[in-house]
Amino acid sequence: MRILVTGGAGFIGSALVRHLVGDIGAEVLNVDKLTYAGNLASLASVESAPNYQFLRADICDRAKIQEAFVSFRPDIVMHLAAESHVDRSISGAADFIQTNIVGTFSLLDTARHYWEGLDARGKSAFRFLHVSTDEVYGSLGDEGLFEETTPYDPSSPYSASKAASDHLAIAWHRTYGLPVVVSNCSNNYGPYHFPEKLIPLMILNALEGKPLPVYGNGANVRDWLYVEDHARALYTIASRGRPGEKYNVGGRNERRNIDVVQRICAILDGVYKDNGPHAQLITNVTDRPGHDARYAIDASKIEGELGWKAEETFETGIEKTVHWYLENEWWWRPLRENVYSGERLGVFKGR
Ligand code: NAD
Ligand code: DAU
Repeated sequence: MRILVTGGAGFIGSALVRHLVGDIGAEVLNVDKLTYAGNLASLASVESAPNYQFLRADICDRAKIQEAFVSFRPDIVMHLAAESHVDRSISGAADFIQTNIVGTFSLLDTARHYWEGLDARGKSAFRFLHVSTDEVYGSLGDEGLFEETTPYDPSSPYSASKAASDHLAIAWHRTYGLPVVVSNCSNNYGPYHFPEKLIPLMILNALEGKPLPVYGNGANVRDWLYVEDHARALYTIASRGRPGEKYNVGGRNERRNIDVVQRICAILDGVYKDNGPHAQLITNVTDRPGHDARYAIDASKIEGELGWKAEETFETGIEKTVHWYLENEWWWRPLRENVYSGERLGVFKGR
């Protein structure tokens, strides 16, 4: 099994590559531009494996990507490369439009030309997994779940760009017959998470005795999935999902943001005495513009059809995650010092 992964130096991509190389034994080519979010240190455990290769490339660079297809000859493409942070998309959307929409178009079209040149067997076995988000569905009220048939209603420049890319992916299946599958997953968390996102930012700020900025009143709800559960889901969908179908992925772990932050503080209080009690650092700050109230995934389709199920509960996963950050300062310290130190992103005057 030869798998070309895009965005494999990112948070979810690196968990996926570690799973494919270490557990599945696939031949993996990781194609990544190494933006601020890409970090080869997250792949230290597999970098010298004989079944792993890395290519630094932008998915928008058609010639380079075409060459990668020809020389690597993938059976499966798993497309994760994207600009992924909502707050950064509010500050400036250009990179999101370029990578998430134009880049996905370019990759789909390159994959299509490669696929058209395969023999009948290669053609029917080939899969293109487009990895997307539940944010394309917009915001839920107090009741209900996102299903695969829920209409798209994105709120942020990030989610609008992902929605556009999902439509392109499905169109490349319907129009050209490319065997595309789309996954829409809820919020991930776990090891190697870049500390701009809620959970790692709160852990590191608490360790450093800095304020824990909760947007608005903290009542917004996210549905949390441990990243290694997502990596297993992605391989399951890429290898056994039906072309033209969408699969929602989630762990049935809805939590209010304020409860997530309180839980992190409580875990830290037990194991890290400096700056405690950590909940005293919680600070309510100006809300995110266009902040979606609630996300919640109905994962019945992937559970029933493909037999995947989340293994971690939020309680077990968050405990592991806090401990991972305590034990892996080598990974996060250089990011805090040289890449992003935690300042507020995504607010602007006039709103
Ligand atoms: P991330 O920001 O941690 O990583 C993105 C990776 O893509 C980085 O390694 C970066 O260098 C690379 N990249 C960016 N632009 C590129 C380009 N033009 N060419 C090649 N590589 C490029 O993101 P993540 O959180 O790991 O998310 C991965 C995918 O999963 C994204 O498509 C995202 O939309 C989707 N997703 C994320 C979540 C989540 O909770 N993080 C949930 C559902 C879906
Ligand atoms: O739902 C899937 C999505 O989850 C992915 O598609 C995105 O790539 C990923 O970044 C994530 O998006 P969110 O916007 O939900 O994640 P974030 O960690 O930025 O924020 C989670 C919640 O916490 C959200 O309601 C905003 C809030 N928040 C976030 C930060 C960074 C705070 O209250 N304070 C913060 O400092």
